[in-house]
Amino acid sequence: MNLAIIGAQWGDEGKGKIVDLLAPHFDVVTRYQGGHNAGHTVIIRRGGVDQKFVLHLIPSGITHPGKTCVIGNGVVVDPQALLNEVDSLRAQGIEVNHRNLLISNRAHLILPYHVALDRAIEAGRGGAAVGTTMRGIGPAYEDKMARRGLRAGDLTDPATLTEKLSHNAKQANRLIAMLGGDLINEKQLIEDGHRWSQLVAPHICDTTYFLNNAARGGKSLLLEGAQATMLDIDHGTYPFVTSSNSSIGGAITGTGLPPSQINCAIGVIKAYTTRVGGGPFPTELNDAMGEHIRARGGEYGASTGRPRRTGWFDAVVARYAVMINGLDALALTKLDVLDDLDEIKICVAYRIGGRETDQIPYDANQMSEAEPVYETIPGWKEKTVGVSRFEDLPEKARNYIARLAELSSAPFAFISTGAERNETIIETEVLSGCGIRLAV
Ligand code: GDP
Ligand code: IMO
Ligand code: MG
Repeated sequence: MNLAIIGAQWGDEGKGKIVDLLAPHFDVVTRYQGGHNAGHTVIIRRGGVDQKFVLHLIPSGITHPGKTCVIGNGVVVDPQALLNEVDSLRAQGIEVNHRNLLISNRAHLILPYHVALDRAIEAGRGGAAVGTTMRGIGPAYEDKMARRGLRAGDLTDPATLTEKLSHNAKQANRLIAMLGGDLINEKQLIEDGHRWSQLVAPHICDTTYFLNNAARGGKSLLLEGAQATMLDIDHGTYPFVTSSNSSIGGAITGTGLPPSQINCAIGVIKAYTTRVGGGPFPTELNDAMGEHIRARGGEYGASTGRPRRTGWFDAVVARYAVMINGLDALALTKLDVLDDLDEIKICVAYRIGGRETDQIPYDANQMSEAEPVYETIPGWKEKTVGVSRFEDLPEKARNYIARLAELSSAPFAFISTGAERNETIIETEVLSGCGIRLAV
């Protein structure tokens, strides 16, 4: 039984929490796209104290002993960021070794010149900046598509590594100079390359065969998406997107697994909406309510610390995510953040150029003109923090959830009422409808 977890909005929906919750029930946890632009938060309560982990590149299953974590071929790997993350996990008492962390030899590398290019390109965009995480993600995927990228496998071949780094550094520096960015030091890059090679090489293998053999051998795979449907390079609010397929397609191309091996897809969605960086956001609240949600929800980027833009739940987005990804179910997160509101709005359609539509326009300019058509429902004004049984929720909260499910055209398999594992309502019937049984 293999399950894909996918962001259904613009990211930061709580994918890390849901993956962490599910990880004990799976053998292998795999990241399939994106890079360390992701920030997946996992809170684990140990001895009465909350321990917080923010995973960027390493799958959120890593805190669970005995699980194999895989960085698939579709991910872009910054070797230094990877090593830093391994160090910080070890400092928090988590075992990371070449048996529990495998990296695809086909995964492309993010190198320092990609970061320099990301900065220079963003600076050149001025007011139309995407608001990237400045992690070099876009330029690394550009090199991949242009067939000049270095792959993790290159780190296992020190003989040609120097040659490739030297060639690419020269080429990149020409471009960086043209864009007025900071040139990189070729000699330093080659030195770093060989250091990374020694430290990262033990993890590198052919994960395509590993994953397919695991699936065929009856092991269960959990596929952890990064970013989200609306940040997908093809299906998101282009050009205000990331540079990978963060919707379901990425789970196929980014692992080498066939579609028939993905038995179920669950989308993670907040009870409201957030977005980091530029681009259209129809239900955005640029007012005291937006600030209130940001403060209560702790809506600051897990990777960059940037304040997240906040707004109401957008059912047009939810339906689109269900359609694009074929979501069997949704995981609703951060319900508790809305606890003290008098009224809550749900966007059911857009009005664009005087016409009502229930579709996402292809053009970001049109999307930025979209006025939300709202339905207003009464708030429940009671604490839901930590509630773990649906029947214990206030009636008005249950009504809100039922309306969201109806408008999204997918049932909720999880309802999250806090950041910790046990602050979750698990709808076992919905899960078993997806073929998932969580053995207790
Ligand atoms: P991801 O990128 O999708 O994994 O999400 P992030 O980790 O970037 O952001 C989600 C944030 O919300 C994290 O700080 C989580 O600890 C927190 N979180 C997740 N679920 C809940 C919830 O149900 N309630 C509250 N209050 N916080 C939650
Ligand atoms: P997780 O996995 C939220 C956004 C950036 C920017 C755009 C492009 O934690 O949900 P990039 O650096 O990828 O070229 O930036 O995408 N972005 C995210 N927003 N959550 C993320 O990851 C994101 N990863 C990238 O803010 O708008
Ligand atoms: Mg995040």
